[in-house]
This record gives sequence, C-alpha cells and structure tokens, in this order.
Amino acid sequence: MIEKNEFYDVEFIDMTHDGMGVCKIEGFPVFVSNALKGEKAKIKIIKVNKSFGFARLVEIQSESPFRKEPICDHFYECGGCNLMHMNYQMQLDFKKYRTKETLKKLGKIETHVHETVGMINPYYYRNKSVIPFGEINGKMVSGLFKSRSHEIIDMKKCYIIPKITTDIVKYLKNVFVELNIPAYNELLRTGVVRHIIVRNSYKFDDISVTIVTFTNKLPKKEIIIKKLSSRFKRVISIVHNYNPDNTNVVFGRKSRILFGEDFIKDEINGVKFNISHRSFYQINPVQTEELYKKAIEYAAVTSDDVVIDSYCGIGTIGLSVAPYAKTVLGVDIVKQSIDDANSNASNNGIKNVKFVVGKAETVIKSWKNYDVDVLFVDPPRKGCDKVFLETIAEMEIPTIVYISCNVSTLARDLNYLQAHNYEVVEVTPFDMFPQTSHIETVTKLKYNKY
Ligand SMILES: C[S@@+](CC[C@H](N)C(=O)[O-])C[C@H]1O[C@@H](n2cnc3c(N)ncnc32)[C@H](O)[C@@H]1O
Repeated sequence: MIEKNEFYDVEFIDMTHDGMGVCKIEGFPVFVSNALKGEKAKIKIIKVNKSFGFARLVEIQSESPFRKEPICDHFYECGGCNLMHMNYQMQLDFKKYRTKETLKKLGKIETHVHETVGMINPYYYRNKSVIPFGEINGKMVSGLFKSRSHEIIDMKKCYIIPKITTDIVKYLKNVFVELNIPAYNELLRTGVVRHIIVRNSYKFDDISVTIVTFTNKLPKKEIIIKKLSSRFKRVISIVHNYNPDNTNVVFGRKSRILFGEDFIKDEINGVKFNISHRSFYQINPVQTEELYKKAIEYAAVTSDDVVIDSYCGIGTIGLSVAPYAKTVLGVDIVKQSIDDANSNASNNGIKNVKFVVGKAETVIKSWKNYDVDVLFVDPPRKGCDKVFLETIAEMEIPTIVYISCNVSTLARDLNYLQAHNYEVVEVTPFDMFPQTSHIETVTKLKYNKY
C-alpha cells in the first residue's frame, strides 16, 4: 500500500484525458501532472484515494524526446494550458489517441480516426477571453484561475489569447484602480467588477468588451467608456452585464449596451456573421473554417437535400451549407442566437433557411415528417438528449455529421446510434484548443438498414 509523502521511482505508461502521466506502483495507478508517457522519474505521493493516487514530479530521470519547455511563465500554477509541456506534434498525436481510445472503451466503436488537424501557429488563437477579477492583499488582480482553485493569478501574458486582449485587460485594470472601483470579493460578496469578456473578430478589426459587475450600476461608466473607446479604436461595442448571484456562471440576466452596437462582425468561409455578446460562437476562427469545410465535405449536400442544423447557435453551419442545399432547418435553445441566425441569413441574402428557438429534442419531433437527407449535430459538452437520439434513430436519416467538443459524450451517443443502424464511417479530430487537452471532432455516420 502506498503512503502519502513517500517517494518512488516510476515509469509513465499512459496519459489521462487531461494530460497527466499515469504510472503504477505495485499495480496501483498514480496520476502526475507535467509527466509524459515513456518518462522515468522520482515522484512524491500527495494524495491517496481508494483506487488511485496523485503525486508530484520531483525529478525527471529519463526525459521524453517529445517534451518541450513551456513558454508561459504561468504554466506551473495555471491549469489552462495543460499540454504545453508536449511538443506540438505530440499534442496532436495525443488527441488522436484519446479519440480512438475513448470511442473504443466507452462507445465500443472501431472506426477510422484520422490524424488531428493542427494549426500552423498554435498560439494567440482564442477570439473570446473570459477574464476574472479579484483582489490579493488589497491589490487588484485579473487574469487566470490557479489550477483546480478559485484563486486568481495576475496575468502577465497569456499565449492563447490575442495580445490586444491582454492589453485591454491590463488597461482596464489600471482604470478601475485609478477610479477606485474594487473587484468583486466572492467570499464577502462585496465589491464591483467580476469579469471582463473580450471578443475579437478574425476577419475584421471589431472588438467587443463586456464588463460583468456584482452591482446593478457600473460606477463612473462614462469615464470608463471614454477611456476604453479612445485608447482602443477597435473596441466598437461595450456592454455592461449585471450578475448579483452567488454563482460560478459568468453572465447575469440583465445587460445594457453602453457604447456602439451589441455585436461584432465576422466571416467564416465567405459567410458574414453578426455575433452578439451572449451568443455562442466557436472560439478558434482559423480552425473553425477547417472544421466546417470537413463537416460540409462529410455531408456531401446536393441541391435537392433537406438539411437540419441542430444546436445551430447563430446558424454558422446551416448558413455555410445553405447555398448547396434545397432547405436548411436550424434549432437552438438560446433566443438571442436564433435572432442572430435570422439576421445573419437576411444579411447574406440566404432565403432557403428557417431557424427556430427551442430544445432540439422537442423541435426535432415536429420535423419528423420532413424527408431529411442530412443532419448536423453540434451539441454542448453534455452531448445529445436521449429523446433527441431516439427521434433521429426513428427518422432513418441517410447522413449524420456529428461535431463534438467532448469525446466521452460523443462515444456514448455514437454507441446508441450504432446500435440503431447508423454506421460510424470516420472521425477527424481538430485541434480547436491547442496547448489544452480539449478535443474537437467531426464524425460521419451513414444509415444502413440491414
Ligand atoms: C457547441 S455549440 C454549437 C453552435 C454552432 N453549431 C456553432 O458551430 O457555432 C452548442 C449550441 O447548443 C445550444 N444548446 C444547448 N442545449 C440545447 C438544446 N437542448 N437544444 C437546442 N440547442 C441547445 C447552445 O445554445 C449552443 O449554441
């Protein structure tokens, strides 16, 4: 039996889904951050559970040839970029391996998993940054959460958000300090500023900034607007959101537009989009274009086809595919996203689309009588609702293209569809979130009635 605080010499034989090294001590699995498969090291046990333990890396005795020195100063305290100690090719291989293993183990699916599609420059890619504010020893801090905690690290630089976003965050922090506007204190439930959300357009210069406060009013808002908009000309939208709740959810229910419009413009594969501050939008625009190209290739839509874009957000997939289809139907649960989807359709002169607000699992039933040729599925991390899966199984749709940001729920849903005559033809992982262990995949399914 292993004991806390004891030292062991080990060899790492595998990696967990979130990039920890896995070793075994007398058959007992132990997980270690910042360790790579194939490495030998001395570790110190920090926690022992019933069937597994955690340890700290003390000294690497034999280093993996795929190890890379993390370029970020915050790597060892921030939990965000948990693969930054792997070179980029190893990150891509790791994601392919995790996809294949998870589909096999959780979904009993043996299919062709392609190489992960990576980025030429896997840094500074996030078009949306959610930055928490807090105070440490009376000093305002903003930036990143410490790994597995609610403690904020004062961000000097972050390698996955655009440089201008870091500049805006630092500038606003100085403005708040100068104007005596304190950060929110979640323990005492006092103070003002909770978060700043910065959204950057990829194809245009547009930037929007949302300031989330604990208080109903944003003090000295005229001064803040003037300073921010004159210092950063690219900021064309400033929104104040009020969140008085004792919660980890970032946005509260009420928002007020303080400056400009409530949206920024962007473009994906030639289609223009307006994105308002609450709508879902993929966070890596370079990879989104590649992901959608693959999804459209898998769908092989023709001009006679009826297409459904379920979990459609602001309609990005549906509007990209509409020029090739007869009709596109889209559904999303967020009204603001559907409003954006409809105005995006008319702004692009696309008429063969219909977007409706609702739960995909409810609305899909009302579309059962359409002769649907292609279904796009792009649910949140928890995957599809059981009723949704049951309905699409009954609909016997010739082609399904399933886009997923969580391979575990993907495996569960594909397992169900496979058991209902859908063949999992192939899967392509996309590196939408370089340096982190998150995996995005596109899967092609065909209906085969035996
Ligand atoms: C991963 S996003 C995909 C959005 C869009 N396809 C895209 O590529 O930008 C998932 C979307 O599902 C929506 N959603 C979550 N639960 C839903 C449900 N039960 N029914 C319909 N939409 C839902 C969210 O509002 C979000 O827009």
